[in-house]
Amino acid sequence: MAFEWKDRYNLGIPEIDKQHQKLFEIGARVYDLAMINDDYDHYDEIMELLQELLNYTEYHFRYEEELMSKYQYSDIGQQKDDHNFYVQKIKSISSRDIDSEQQKTTLEIVDFLSQWISSHITFSDRKYAMEFKAKGITF
Ligand SMILES: [Fe+2]
Ligand SMILES: [Fe+2]
Repeated sequence: MAFEWKDRYNLGIPEIDKQHQKLFEIGARVYDLAMINDDYDHYDEIMELLQELLNYTEYHFRYEEELMSKYQYSDIGQQKDDHNFYVQKIKSISSRDIDSEQQKTTLEIVDFLSQWISSHITFSDRKYAMEFKAKGITF
């Protein structure tokens, strides 16, 4: 299922883990909304939640980049590129007209976002967490 939190996403940095969980929580709400099969139009609600996801994502990325810069993470450039890509992706979705095939399109979006964020945490974020650990930085 999309946006399902798994223990292996934990990086051992409490504030970061909390923020990642919150991203999943917002994502899961988008998913639940998109899965509703009734006769009502959920377009506005979906757009509102996507906006919330974007806002929180931007907050999280800023927080993470400040942390990486504070502790001089060696691969900060790659992280910033990844983050910018993701933000642009959500922005382009939010400005797109998903009104026609609402459910199908929303599920595709959520699927893409959940896969991106899971693999970003698993491969990119874990790298800075390991580097901090090797440097003896504790949180
Ligand atoms: Fe990141
Ligand atoms: Fe992250």
